[in-house]
Amino acid sequence: MRSQWGSKIGFILASAGSTIGLGAVWKFPYVTATQGGGAFLLIYLAICLTLGLVLMSTEIAIGRSTQSSPYGAFRKLGGKAWPIVGALGILICFLIISFYSVIGGWTASYFFSTITGATHTAIGSESEANFTAFITNPEQPIYFHLLFALATAGTILFGVQKGIEKLSKYLMPILFILLVVLIIRSITLEGASQGLMEFLAVDFREVTSKTFIEALGLSFFSLSLAMGIMVTYGSYVDGQAGIVPSVIWIIALTLMTCVLSGLMVLPAVSALGLSNSAGPGLTFITMPSVFALMPYGQWFGALFFAALFVAALTSSISLMEVIVSFLIDEFKLARKTAVFITFAGFFTLGVACSLSMGIWEGYKIVGLNLFDFLDKLTQNYLMPIGEIFLAIFAAWIVWPTISNQLKANTPAVAKFLPAIRIFLGIIIPILIGVILLNGFDFEFKINYIYGI
Ligand code: TRP
Repeated sequence: MRSQWGSKIGFILASAGSTIGLGAVWKFPYVTATQGGGAFLLIYLAICLTLGLVLMSTEIAIGRSTQSSPYGAFRKLGGKAWPIVGALGILICFLIISFYSVIGGWTASYFFSTITGATHTAIGSESEANFTAFITNPEQPIYFHLLFALATAGTILFGVQKGIEKLSKYLMPILFILLVVLIIRSITLEGASQGLMEFLAVDFREVTSKTFIEALGLSFFSLSLAMGIMVTYGSYVDGQAGIVPSVIWIIALTLMTCVLSGLMVLPAVSALGLSNSAGPGLTFITMPSVFALMPYGQWFGALFFAALFVAALTSSISLMEVIVSFLIDEFKLARKTAVFITFAGFFTLGVACSLSMGIWEGYKIVGLNLFDFLDKLTQNYLMPIGEIFLAIFAAWIVWPTISNQLKANTPAVAKFLPAIRIFLGIIIPILIGVILLNGFDFEFKINYIYGI
Protein backbone atom coordinates (compact mmCIF):
# COMPACT_ATOMS: atom_id res chain seq x y z
CA MET A 1 0.00 0.00 0.00
CA ARG A 2 1.45 3.30 -1.06
CA SER A 3 1.66 5.92 1.62
CA GLN A 4 -0.85 8.72 1.47
CA TRP A 5 -1.21 12.18 2.85
CA GLY A 6 -3.25 12.18 6.02
CA SER A 7 -5.49 14.98 4.85
CA LYS A 8 -6.02 17.50 2.15
CA ILE A 9 -4.41 20.18 4.25
CA GLY A 10 -1.40 17.89 4.79
CA PHE A 11 -0.96 17.61 1.04
CA ILE A 12 -1.30 21.36 0.55
CA LEU A 13 1.24 22.13 3.26
CA ALA A 14 3.74 19.53 2.07
CA SER A 15 3.51 20.88 -1.46
CA ALA A 16 3.83 24.44 -0.23
CA GLY A 17 6.92 23.26 1.67
CA SER A 18 8.41 22.30 -1.66
CA THR A 19 7.33 25.38 -3.58
CA ILE A 20 8.08 27.99 -0.92
CA GLY A 21 11.82 28.24 -0.56
CA LEU A 22 14.72 30.16 -1.96
CA GLY A 23 12.76 30.70 -5.17
CA ALA A 24 10.24 32.98 -3.49
CA VAL A 25 12.47 34.65 -0.92
CA TRP A 26 15.85 34.86 -2.65
CA LYS A 27 15.33 34.52 -6.40
CA PHE A 28 12.07 36.38 -6.90
CA PRO A 29 13.26 39.77 -5.54
CA TYR A 30 16.50 39.88 -7.51
CA VAL A 31 15.03 38.64 -10.77
CA THR A 32 12.21 41.17 -10.42
CA ALA A 33 14.73 43.91 -9.71
CA THR A 34 16.86 43.09 -12.74
CA GLN A 35 13.79 42.82 -14.96
CA GLY A 36 12.51 46.25 -14.08
CA GLY A 37 9.77 45.64 -11.50
CA GLY A 38 6.02 46.09 -11.92
CA ALA A 39 5.49 44.89 -15.47
CA PHE A 40 7.55 41.80 -14.75
CA LEU A 41 5.54 41.15 -11.60
CA LEU A 42 2.28 41.28 -13.55
CA ILE A 43 3.55 38.93 -16.26
CA TYR A 44 4.88 36.54 -13.64
CA LEU A 45 1.58 36.50 -11.74
CA ALA A 46 -0.38 36.00 -14.95
CA ILE A 47 1.80 33.04 -15.96
CA CYS A 48 1.52 31.40 -12.52
CA LEU A 49 -2.24 31.75 -12.43
CA THR A 50 -2.78 30.33 -15.93
CA LEU A 51 0.03 28.06 -17.12
CA GLY A 52 1.16 27.31 -13.58
CA LEU A 53 -2.33 26.36 -12.44
CA VAL A 54 -3.00 24.06 -15.38
CA LEU A 55 0.44 22.45 -15.42
CA MET A 56 0.61 21.83 -11.69
CA SER A 57 -2.87 20.26 -11.75
CA THR A 58 -1.81 18.08 -14.66
CA GLU A 59 1.37 16.92 -12.94
CA ILE A 60 -0.61 15.98 -9.86
CA ALA A 61 -3.20 14.18 -12.01
CA ILE A 62 -0.43 12.13 -13.65
CA GLY A 63 0.98 11.21 -10.25
CA ARG A 64 -2.38 10.40 -8.72
CA SER A 65 -3.55 8.22 -11.58
CA THR A 66 -0.38 6.14 -11.76
CA GLN A 67 0.51 6.15 -8.07
CA SER A 68 4.16 6.21 -9.02
CA SER A 69 7.10 8.55 -9.42
CA PRO A 70 7.73 10.41 -12.68
CA TYR A 71 9.84 7.98 -14.68
CA GLY A 72 7.54 5.04 -13.97
CA ALA A 73 4.44 7.22 -14.34
CA PHE A 74 5.29 8.16 -17.90
CA ARG A 75 6.06 4.53 -18.71
CA LYS A 76 2.82 3.26 -17.21
CA LEU A 77 0.73 5.80 -19.08
CA GLY A 78 2.58 6.32 -22.32
CA GLY A 79 4.77 3.32 -23.04
CA LYS A 80 8.32 3.22 -24.32
CA ALA A 81 9.34 6.68 -25.51
CA TRP A 82 7.76 8.88 -22.85
CA PRO A 83 9.86 8.01 -19.80
CA ILE A 84 12.50 10.19 -21.41
CA VAL A 85 10.40 13.17 -20.34
CA GLY A 86 10.47 11.82 -16.79
CA ALA A 87 14.23 11.42 -17.08
CA LEU A 88 14.55 15.03 -18.15
CA GLY A 89 12.70 16.03 -14.97
CA ILE A 90 15.15 14.02 -12.88
CA LEU A 91 18.13 15.61 -14.61
CA ILE A 92 16.62 19.06 -13.95
CA CYS A 93 16.24 18.26 -10.26
CA PHE A 94 19.87 17.14 -10.10
CA LEU A 95 21.22 20.29 -11.75
CA ILE A 96 19.03 22.54 -9.59
CA ILE A 97 19.89 20.93 -6.27
CA SER A 98 23.61 21.41 -7.02
CA PHE A 99 23.43 25.19 -6.98
CA TYR A 100 20.43 25.31 -4.64
CA SER A 101 22.53 23.70 -1.94
CA VAL A 102 25.22 26.37 -2.36
CA ILE A 103 22.66 29.10 -1.69
CA GLY A 104 21.22 27.05 1.16
CA GLY A 105 24.75 27.14 2.59
CA TRP A 106 24.80 30.92 2.31
CA THR A 107 21.68 31.09 4.53
CA ALA A 108 23.45 28.94 7.14
CA SER A 109 26.54 31.09 7.03
CA TYR A 110 24.51 34.27 7.37
CA PHE A 111 22.66 32.76 10.28
CA PHE A 112 25.94 32.24 12.13
CA SER A 113 27.48 35.55 11.20
CA THR A 114 24.31 37.39 12.22
CA ILE A 115 23.86 35.66 15.53
CA THR A 116 27.52 36.15 16.47
CA GLY A 117 27.29 39.76 15.37
CA ALA A 118 30.15 39.41 12.88
CA THR A 119 28.38 41.16 10.01
CA HIS A 120 25.89 42.93 12.11
CA THR A 121 26.88 46.54 11.62
CA ALA A 122 27.48 46.49 7.87
CA ILE A 123 25.12 48.68 5.84
CA GLY A 124 24.75 49.23 2.11
CA SER A 125 27.99 49.02 0.17
CA GLU A 126 29.81 47.64 3.19
CA SER A 127 27.34 44.80 3.33
CA GLU A 128 27.87 44.29 -0.38
CA ALA A 129 31.63 44.05 0.15
CA ASN A 130 31.09 41.47 2.90
CA PHE A 131 28.95 39.41 0.61
CA THR A 132 31.39 39.51 -2.30
CA ALA A 133 34.28 38.59 -0.03
CA PHE A 134 32.29 35.65 1.30
CA ILE A 135 31.11 34.10 -1.96
CA THR A 136 34.43 34.50 -3.74
CA ASN A 137 36.27 32.84 -0.87
CA PRO A 138 37.38 29.40 -2.09
CA GLU A 139 36.70 27.61 1.19
CA GLN A 140 34.04 29.04 3.45
CA PRO A 141 30.98 28.80 1.19
CA ILE A 142 31.93 25.20 0.47
CA TYR A 143 31.86 24.23 4.16
CA PHE A 144 28.38 25.67 4.42
CA HIS A 145 27.34 24.01 1.18
CA LEU A 146 28.51 20.74 2.73
CA LEU A 147 26.48 21.49 5.84
CA PHE A 148 23.33 22.13 3.82
CA ALA A 149 23.90 19.08 1.59
CA LEU A 150 24.41 16.89 4.67
CA ALA A 151 21.26 18.26 6.28
CA THR A 152 19.31 17.43 3.12
CA ALA A 153 20.78 13.95 2.72
CA GLY A 154 20.52 13.24 6.45
CA THR A 155 16.86 14.19 6.54
CA ILE A 156 16.09 11.91 3.63
CA LEU A 157 18.19 9.07 4.94
CA PHE A 158 17.03 9.01 8.52
CA GLY A 159 13.55 10.08 7.64
CA VAL A 160 13.52 12.63 10.44
CA GLN A 161 10.23 13.52 8.89
CA LYS A 162 8.70 14.14 12.26
CA GLY A 163 11.51 16.50 13.16
CA ILE A 164 11.47 18.45 9.97
CA GLU A 165 7.70 18.55 9.88
CA LYS A 166 7.59 19.92 13.38
CA LEU A 167 10.36 22.39 12.65
CA SER A 168 8.62 23.69 9.56
CA LYS A 169 5.32 23.86 11.35
CA TYR A 170 6.83 26.45 13.70
CA LEU A 171 9.41 28.12 11.52
CA MET A 172 7.28 28.66 8.43
CA PRO A 173 4.66 30.75 10.23
CA ILE A 174 7.52 32.60 11.91
CA LEU A 175 8.95 33.30 8.46
CA PHE A 176 5.63 34.85 7.46
CA ILE A 177 5.42 37.01 10.55
CA LEU A 178 9.03 38.07 10.08
CA LEU A 179 8.36 39.00 6.47
CA VAL A 180 5.62 41.35 7.61
CA VAL A 181 7.77 42.90 10.37
CA LEU A 182 10.68 43.34 7.96
CA ILE A 183 8.44 44.87 5.30
CA ILE A 184 7.40 47.52 7.78
CA ARG A 185 11.04 48.29 8.60
CA SER A 186 11.99 48.25 4.97
CA ILE A 187 9.30 50.58 3.62
CA THR A 188 9.76 53.06 6.43
CA LEU A 189 13.44 53.56 5.60
CA GLU A 190 14.20 56.95 4.16
CA GLY A 191 14.17 56.78 0.37
CA ALA A 192 12.33 53.48 0.27
CA SER A 193 9.43 54.80 -1.76
CA GLN A 194 11.40 54.77 -5.00
CA GLY A 195 12.06 51.05 -4.69
CA LEU A 196 8.45 50.47 -3.75
CA MET A 197 7.31 52.39 -6.83
CA GLU A 198 9.61 50.42 -9.10
CA PHE A 199 8.24 47.19 -7.74
CA LEU A 200 4.60 48.17 -8.11
CA ALA A 201 4.51 50.64 -11.00
CA VAL A 202 3.82 48.94 -14.29
CA ASP A 203 5.82 50.14 -17.26
CA PHE A 204 5.46 47.96 -20.33
CA ARG A 205 7.99 49.93 -22.33
CA GLU A 206 10.83 47.96 -20.83
CA VAL A 207 9.31 44.58 -21.60
CA THR A 208 11.27 42.47 -24.08
CA SER A 209 11.16 38.81 -25.01
CA LYS A 210 13.71 38.29 -22.29
CA THR A 211 11.22 39.53 -19.71
CA PHE A 212 8.81 36.79 -20.74
CA ILE A 213 11.38 34.05 -20.67
CA GLU A 214 12.56 35.10 -17.21
CA ALA A 215 8.97 35.24 -15.94
CA LEU A 216 8.20 31.85 -17.44
CA GLY A 217 11.32 30.26 -16.00
CA LEU A 218 10.83 31.83 -12.59
CA SER A 219 7.23 30.66 -12.41
CA PHE A 220 8.29 27.06 -13.09
CA PHE A 221 11.12 27.28 -10.58
CA SER A 222 9.10 28.85 -7.81
CA LEU A 223 6.18 26.44 -8.32
CA SER A 224 8.51 23.41 -8.34
CA LEU A 225 7.26 22.40 -11.77
CA ALA A 226 9.71 20.02 -13.36
CA MET A 227 7.76 16.83 -13.75
CA GLY A 228 9.22 15.43 -10.62
CA ILE A 229 7.98 16.83 -7.41
CA MET A 230 4.36 17.42 -8.17
CA VAL A 231 3.99 14.05 -9.89
CA THR A 232 5.54 12.35 -6.87
CA TYR A 233 3.50 14.31 -4.34
CA GLY A 234 0.39 13.76 -6.44
CA SER A 235 1.01 10.05 -6.24
CA TYR A 236 0.42 10.23 -2.50
CA VAL A 237 -2.94 11.94 -2.88
CA ASP A 238 -5.86 9.66 -2.15
CA GLY A 239 -9.11 9.54 -4.08
CA GLN A 240 -10.97 11.94 -1.84
CA ALA A 241 -9.45 15.33 -2.47
CA GLY A 242 -10.08 17.46 -5.53
CA ILE A 243 -6.92 18.50 -7.32
CA VAL A 244 -7.67 21.98 -8.60
CA PRO A 245 -8.79 23.57 -5.30
CA SER A 246 -5.63 22.29 -3.61
CA VAL A 247 -3.48 23.66 -6.41
CA ILE A 248 -5.13 27.06 -6.10
CA TRP A 249 -4.12 27.09 -2.43
CA ILE A 250 -0.55 26.03 -3.14
CA ILE A 251 -0.11 28.69 -5.79
CA ALA A 252 -1.75 31.39 -3.67
CA LEU A 253 0.57 30.67 -0.74
CA THR A 254 3.62 30.73 -2.99
CA LEU A 255 2.68 33.95 -4.76
CA MET A 256 1.93 35.60 -1.46
CA THR A 257 5.43 34.73 -0.24
CA CYS A 258 6.95 36.09 -3.45
CA VAL A 259 5.15 39.40 -3.20
CA LEU A 260 5.97 39.75 0.51
CA SER A 261 9.65 39.08 -0.22
CA GLY A 262 9.61 41.68 -2.95
CA LEU A 263 8.09 44.21 -0.56
CA MET A 264 10.73 43.34 1.99
CA VAL A 265 13.83 43.53 -0.20
CA LEU A 266 13.17 46.03 -2.98
CA PRO A 267 12.28 49.20 -1.03
CA ALA A 268 15.42 48.67 1.02
CA VAL A 269 17.54 48.48 -2.14
CA SER A 270 16.80 52.05 -3.12
CA ALA A 271 16.84 53.31 0.45
CA LEU A 272 20.35 51.93 0.94
CA GLY A 273 21.59 53.25 -2.37
CA LEU A 274 22.27 49.77 -3.76
CA SER A 275 22.07 48.83 -7.39
CA ASN A 276 19.12 46.91 -8.77
CA SER A 277 21.43 44.75 -10.79
CA ALA A 278 23.11 43.18 -7.77
CA GLY A 279 21.73 39.82 -8.90
CA PRO A 280 21.87 36.71 -6.72
CA GLY A 281 23.38 38.63 -3.82
CA LEU A 282 20.53 41.09 -3.46
CA THR A 283 18.72 39.46 -0.53
CA PHE A 284 22.01 38.71 1.24
CA ILE A 285 23.17 42.30 0.84
CA THR A 286 20.01 44.22 1.70
CA MET A 287 18.67 42.13 4.54
CA PRO A 288 21.75 42.36 6.80
CA SER A 289 21.64 46.13 6.27
CA VAL A 290 17.98 46.20 7.25
CA PHE A 291 18.78 44.20 10.40
CA ALA A 292 21.61 46.57 11.22
CA LEU A 293 19.12 49.43 11.05
CA MET A 294 16.49 48.02 13.40
CA PRO A 295 16.26 47.45 17.13
CA TYR A 296 17.09 43.85 18.10
CA GLY A 297 18.14 43.43 14.47
CA GLN A 298 20.63 40.76 15.37
CA TRP A 299 17.86 38.51 16.69
CA PHE A 300 15.44 39.29 13.90
CA GLY A 301 18.27 38.54 11.51
CA ALA A 302 19.18 35.23 13.08
CA LEU A 303 15.53 34.14 13.07
CA PHE A 304 15.12 35.23 9.47
CA PHE A 305 18.06 33.21 8.22
CA ALA A 306 17.07 30.21 10.34
CA ALA A 307 13.57 30.28 8.89
CA LEU A 308 14.96 30.70 5.39
CA PHE A 309 17.31 27.77 5.97
CA VAL A 310 14.38 25.53 6.91
CA ALA A 311 12.27 26.78 3.99
CA ALA A 312 15.17 25.95 1.68
CA LEU A 313 15.64 22.58 3.32
CA THR A 314 12.02 21.51 2.77
CA SER A 315 12.47 22.43 -0.89
CA SER A 316 15.83 20.70 -1.36
CA ILE A 317 14.45 17.56 0.25
CA SER A 318 11.76 17.48 -2.42
CA LEU A 319 14.40 17.87 -5.12
CA MET A 320 16.61 15.12 -3.71
CA GLU A 321 13.75 12.72 -3.06
CA VAL A 322 12.89 12.70 -6.78
CA ILE A 323 16.39 11.53 -7.70
CA VAL A 324 16.67 9.04 -4.86
CA SER A 325 13.31 7.39 -5.54
CA PHE A 326 14.20 7.15 -9.23
CA LEU A 327 17.47 5.35 -8.41
CA ILE A 328 15.68 3.00 -6.04
CA ASP A 329 12.85 2.20 -8.46
CA GLU A 330 14.86 1.80 -11.62
CA PHE A 331 18.17 0.38 -10.44
CA LYS A 332 16.89 -1.46 -7.39
CA LEU A 333 19.45 0.28 -5.19
CA ALA A 334 19.22 0.26 -1.45
CA ARG A 335 17.97 3.58 -0.10
CA LYS A 336 21.31 4.26 1.60
CA THR A 337 23.28 3.68 -1.60
CA ALA A 338 20.93 5.86 -3.61
CA VAL A 339 21.21 8.67 -1.07
CA PHE A 340 25.00 8.42 -1.04
CA ILE A 341 25.34 8.49 -4.83
CA THR A 342 22.98 11.45 -5.15
CA PHE A 343 24.73 13.33 -2.37
CA ALA A 344 28.20 12.73 -3.84
CA GLY A 345 27.00 13.85 -7.26
CA PHE A 346 25.31 17.08 -6.34
CA PHE A 347 27.84 18.02 -3.69
CA THR A 348 30.64 17.81 -6.25
CA LEU A 349 28.81 19.79 -8.89
CA GLY A 350 27.87 22.30 -6.18
CA VAL A 351 31.52 22.80 -5.25
CA ALA A 352 32.27 23.66 -8.86
CA CYS A 353 29.30 26.09 -8.84
CA SER A 354 30.55 27.78 -5.71
CA LEU A 355 34.09 28.13 -7.05
CA SER A 356 32.72 29.49 -10.32
CA MET A 357 31.78 32.66 -8.44
CA GLY A 358 35.32 33.08 -7.13
CA ILE A 359 38.57 31.58 -8.24
CA TRP A 360 37.01 29.85 -11.27
CA GLU A 361 35.16 32.96 -12.42
CA GLY A 362 37.33 32.94 -15.57
CA TYR A 363 35.85 29.72 -16.93
CA LYS A 364 32.79 30.68 -18.93
CA ILE A 365 30.14 28.71 -20.75
CA VAL A 366 28.32 30.86 -23.34
CA GLY A 367 29.56 33.86 -21.43
CA LEU A 368 28.28 32.74 -18.03
CA ASN A 369 30.00 31.23 -15.05
CA LEU A 370 28.92 27.68 -14.15
CA PHE A 371 26.49 28.81 -11.44
CA ASP A 372 24.66 31.25 -13.71
CA PHE A 373 24.80 28.80 -16.59
CA LEU A 374 23.13 25.96 -14.66
CA ASP A 375 20.58 28.37 -13.24
CA LYS A 376 19.64 29.75 -16.65
CA LEU A 377 19.82 26.40 -18.43
CA THR A 378 17.42 24.69 -16.04
CA GLN A 379 15.08 27.54 -15.28
CA ASN A 380 14.77 29.19 -18.67
CA TYR A 381 15.24 26.26 -21.05
CA LEU A 382 15.00 22.73 -19.68
CA MET A 383 11.95 23.30 -17.49
CA PRO A 384 9.88 25.03 -20.19
CA ILE A 385 10.87 22.36 -22.74
CA GLY A 386 9.90 19.60 -20.33
CA GLU A 387 6.55 21.26 -19.68
CA ILE A 388 5.82 21.47 -23.41
CA PHE A 389 6.17 17.69 -23.64
CA LEU A 390 4.15 17.18 -20.50
CA ALA A 391 1.32 19.33 -21.85
CA ILE A 392 1.26 17.52 -25.20
CA PHE A 393 1.41 14.17 -23.44
CA ALA A 394 -1.52 15.06 -21.19
CA ALA A 395 -3.73 16.52 -23.91
CA TRP A 396 -3.10 14.11 -26.78
CA ILE A 397 -1.90 10.81 -25.34
CA VAL A 398 -3.64 10.28 -22.02
CA TRP A 399 -6.41 12.88 -21.94
CA PRO A 400 -9.19 10.53 -20.70
CA THR A 401 -7.14 9.69 -17.61
CA ILE A 402 -6.16 13.28 -16.96
CA SER A 403 -9.64 14.68 -17.44
CA ASN A 404 -11.13 12.08 -15.09
CA GLN A 405 -8.56 12.98 -12.47
CA LEU A 406 -9.14 16.69 -12.80
CA LYS A 407 -12.90 16.52 -12.42
CA ALA A 408 -12.94 13.91 -9.64
CA ASN A 409 -14.56 15.39 -6.51
CA THR A 410 -14.70 18.82 -8.10
CA PRO A 411 -17.65 18.84 -10.51
CA ALA A 412 -17.15 22.54 -11.13
CA VAL A 413 -14.01 21.72 -13.09
CA ALA A 414 -15.94 19.59 -15.62
CA LYS A 415 -17.20 22.68 -17.44
CA PHE A 416 -13.68 23.86 -18.08
CA LEU A 417 -12.28 20.58 -19.34
CA PRO A 418 -12.50 21.35 -23.08
CA ALA A 419 -10.82 24.70 -22.47
CA ILE A 420 -8.13 23.06 -20.34
CA ARG A 421 -7.46 20.54 -23.10
CA ILE A 422 -7.05 23.25 -25.73
CA PHE A 423 -4.81 25.12 -23.34
CA LEU A 424 -2.61 22.09 -22.73
CA GLY A 425 -2.60 20.68 -26.21
CA ILE A 426 -2.29 23.83 -28.30
CA ILE A 427 -1.85 27.09 -26.46
CA ILE A 428 0.83 26.06 -23.96
CA PRO A 429 3.15 24.37 -26.49
CA ILE A 430 2.88 27.29 -28.92
CA LEU A 431 3.20 29.96 -26.26
CA ILE A 432 6.17 28.40 -24.50
CA GLY A 433 7.72 27.57 -27.88
CA VAL A 434 7.50 31.16 -29.08
CA ILE A 435 8.85 32.53 -25.82
CA LEU A 436 11.71 30.06 -25.89
CA LEU A 437 12.72 30.79 -29.46
CA ASN A 438 12.61 34.54 -28.95
CA GLY A 439 14.48 34.40 -25.69
CA PHE A 440 17.09 32.13 -27.12
CA ASP A 441 17.69 34.45 -30.00
CA PHE A 442 18.03 37.38 -27.63
CA GLU A 443 20.44 35.75 -25.21
CA PHE A 444 22.44 34.37 -28.07
CA LYS A 445 22.98 37.87 -29.44
CA ILE A 446 23.82 39.34 -26.08
CA ASN A 447 26.31 36.62 -25.21
CA TYR A 448 28.05 36.34 -28.53
CA ILE A 449 27.76 39.60 -30.34
CA TYR A 450 28.27 41.91 -27.42
CA GLY A 451 30.54 39.44 -25.71
CA ILE A 452 29.01 39.90 -22.28
N1 TRP B 1 10.33 25.78 -5.66
C1 TRP B 1 11.47 25.74 -4.80
C2 TRP B 1 11.84 27.15 -4.41
O1 TRP B 1 11.21 28.06 -4.83
C3 TRP B 1 12.63 25.06 -5.43
C4 TRP B 1 12.27 23.74 -5.95
C5 TRP B 1 11.92 22.68 -5.20
C6 TRP B 1 12.20 23.37 -7.30
N2 TRP B 1 11.61 21.66 -6.04
C7 TRP B 1 11.78 22.05 -7.31
C8 TRP B 1 12.43 24.02 -8.47
C9 TRP B 1 11.59 21.37 -8.50
C10 TRP B 1 12.26 23.33 -9.64
C11 TRP B 1 11.84 22.03 -9.68
O2 TRP B 1 12.74 27.37 -3.70
